[in-house]
Amino acid sequence: MHHRWLLLLACFWVLFMLMVASKLITLTMRIPEGYGMRQGSLTILPELEKMTVTEARKFQIESQRLELLRSVCRNGSFGNLSHSTISKFVLDRIFVSDKHKILFCQTPKVGNTQWKKVLIVLNGAFSSIEDIPENVVHDHDKNGLPRLSSYSVPDVQERLNSYFKFLIVRDPFERLISAYKDKFLHNPRFEPWYKHNIAPVIIRKYRKDRTETRGGLQFQDFVRYLGDPNHKFLDLQFGDHIIHWVTYVELCAPCEINYNVIGHHETLEEDAPYILKEAGIDTLVSYPAIPPGITKYNQSKVEYYFSKVSKRDIKRLYDRFDGDFKLFGYKEPTFLFH
Ligand SMILES: *[C@@H]1O[C@H](CO)[C@@H](O)[C@H](O)[C@H]1NC(C)=O
Ligand SMILES: *[C@@H]1O[C@H](CO)[C@@H](O)[C@H](O)[C@H]1NC(C)=O
Ligand SMILES: *[C@@H]1O[C@H](CO)[C@@H](O)[C@H](O)[C@H]1NC(C)=O
Repeated sequence: MHHRWLLLLACFWVLFMLMVASKLITLTMRIPEGYGMRQGSLTILPELEKMTVTEARKFQIESQRLELLRSVCRNGSFGNLSHSTISKFVLDRIFVSDKHKILFCQTPKVGNTQWKKVLIVLNGAFSSIEDIPENVVHDHDKNGLPRLSSYSVPDVQERLNSYFKFLIVRDPFERLISAYKDKFLHNPRFEPWYKHNIAPVIIRKYRKDRTETRGGLQFQDFVRYLGDPNHKFLDLQFGDHIIHWVTYVELCAPCEINYNVIGHHETLEEDAPYILKEAGIDTLVSYPAIPPGITKYNQSKVEYYFSKVSKRDIKRLYDRFDGDFKLFGYKEPTFLFH
């Protein structure tokens, strides 16, 4: 009888010691809990001790953007969560750095020229951003920045599966205003086809007041064209020039491609260094200085440009760009609807 009690006591003692030992092992290994994040195919375990408060907050914001994107993709009709259906049009939009295993999807009017310069330097064609002549940035025969579409099907798959992938977005309506100003009002790179070939075709089909023949394309003509559910007919005629105003969904297939980081133009000051760090290139190159104030969302500007557009046309435009607003967390511009 006495022996049985002793045995039981010994058992408890062993159990207790095991518990203490396992606790000690856990403590010495210092596993940061709850911060394992699955992102695409790679697991990111940031070392919390080394993260500053700002970095941790940034990491959280980025995780939320990706979570939102995935949940809207699963829910909606903005594409398939599979790699199988990526069109040549999308592959043409994606630039490759094999040296650093990076894919960048170009979304025009969102500061992409600067990102292209960063990648051109990384690929080695020029030694610094200042050395790249302006006309070479967009000349893909000379700048050593290949498009993903120039690879074989298995090579495309391999890169989509394993490279670091990112894109930059901004408020969809501000982007359209910027495209309109850039291509039809200022045209800084002197691309005459916008004024001479594209504008007259849009005016002929979409100008409301046909007695008004003076001047070039007006913003309301442009909006009416973009919001027309049958816009595809003209898009085909305009060819690749439409990249300046088609949706992010069409440009970058964000529901099919598992992007690692979504940068926002509005927070580019923090997003640019974050992207460089996540891509593992922050010690090699830096993003060019951002002129103060240019990234901030300007509601008065949006109100100003849309003030002459009818509510019906704004609604139709919104319906077309609905995916771009929802996938990337941009608020519906309700101030334009009443
Ligand atoms: C999913 O879609 C439905 C119907 O289109 C919509 O009402 C709902 O808000 C969507 N949910 C998310 C998370 O986007
Ligand atoms: C999803 O993919 C399937 C097959 O690839 C296709 O038939 C279907 O139309 C796609 N759905 C959407 C919403 O794109
Ligand atoms: C916003 O846009 C308006 C109209 O284009 C402009 O006058 C104003 O200076 C802008 N505000 C800021 C803060 O950039």
